[in-house]
Amino acid sequence: MTSQNIGIFVTGGIAAYKIPLLVRALVRAGHAVRVAMTPAAQAFVTEGTLATVSKHAVLTDHNEFAQPEHVAHVALAHWMDMAVVVPATANTLAKLAAGLADNVVTTTWLAFNGPKLIVPAMNDQMWLNDQTQANIAHLQAQGVAVLPPAVGFLAEGYQAVGRMPEVEVIETFIDTYQQVPFLAGKKLVITAGGTRERLDPVRYISNDSSGKMGTALANIAAAAGADVTLITTAKRPVLPAVTVQNVQTALEMQAAVATAFETCDAVIMAAAVSDYRPQTVSAHKLKKTSPTAGLTLTLAQNPDILAGLGAQKTTQLVVGFAAETNDVLANATKKLVSKHADLLIANRVGVGVGFDQETNAVWLLRPEQAPEAIAEAPKTVIATRILQVLATMMG
Ligand code: C5P
Repeated sequence: MTSQNIGIFVTGGIAAYKIPLLVRALVRAGHAVRVAMTPAAQAFVTEGTLATVSKHAVLTDHNEFAQPEHVAHVALAHWMDMAVVVPATANTLAKLAAGLADNVVTTTWLAFNGPKLIVPAMNDQMWLNDQTQANIAHLQAQGVAVLPPAVGFLAEGYQAVGRMPEVEVIETFIDTYQQVPFLAGKKLVITAGGTRERLDPVRYISNDSSGKMGTALANIAAAAGADVTLITTAKRPVLPAVTVQNVQTALEMQAAVATAFETCDAVIMAAAVSDYRPQTVSAHKLKKTSPTAGLTLTLAQNPDILAGLGAQKTTQLVVGFAAETNDVLANATKKLVSKHADLLIANRVGVGVGFDQETNAVWLLRPEQAPEAIAEAPKTVIATRILQVLATMMG
């Protein structure tokens, strides 16, 4: 999304120690960030750390009157395009729901009239408490967007709901907030990551795909209202609305895609599927047979999942990727035709280009149409453009 002035409001939960990473990620993505924190938050993360990563002084109850020519909380409210309370404690949620104004976070919140987001994080019992849930429902009814806490390891030492979602998910939540629901009612199947073709219990053949592109497509499609199934080898954080199926091999991916394909509107094969797999998978770790002899592996060919879907499609649109090291457009055009894809995204890959990068530059190829070039941009921006084109094709 375009750069915004984002107000980050930190309250006193243990997850506050991760907020400098969120602020740094937002600043790196081109946003301007200013932070305010409650007195309780200062027990978990320092003002100095947050000032350094945001490149601005942090507003606290102690320095509120440092520049008496400004009313600090009103000035911050005027500056912001968006307010994000993260982590939001049960106490601060209750105050926000009741309209209390007793510290710099709650006063700025009340003085601000724009988009408001909340990322609660707390003990599971506190989160599930009826009063907390009533406060959340009340804030949502006022138009506040809530990213619910994840299930995971809590500071208390056990697994439960209440954990703050990963920084990458919070960043996506902020980036895709107020996304126009241009995919509402559409069912999408998206694959991501490089497949792992096992040799033995501890070794596999794979590639450098990180799953970032496929995951970005899944997150943005979900934020744009689609029902998304992400079939992935990569363990990357996703928005709660994305249904994830983890797979490892091309054959597992093929089976998962086949089931979901029947009822979907479009499938996007962003995964880097291995063309070959070891013919046999050893049940035990392979050992050296002699001090000097080499090892010859026999590989069997994997099915081409995309080509199979292209041959079998009825109403579904089939989208593929072509990662090429040379003659990108020529090679990709051949794949568009041979795999009967409706849309093919071509990009150059190599050392430091394409795979595992935050940005990409691609061409969109469609049958009988001139290629559309998308200049280097963050993968989220590329994903949004691909999905917009797909939405137009779906009508
Ligand atoms: O032929 P190539 O691997 O370059 O084609 C890339 C496209 O085909 C990607 O969309 C990838 O997900 C898909 N593919 C597949 N099954 C394979 C190999 C690639 O679905 N075995």
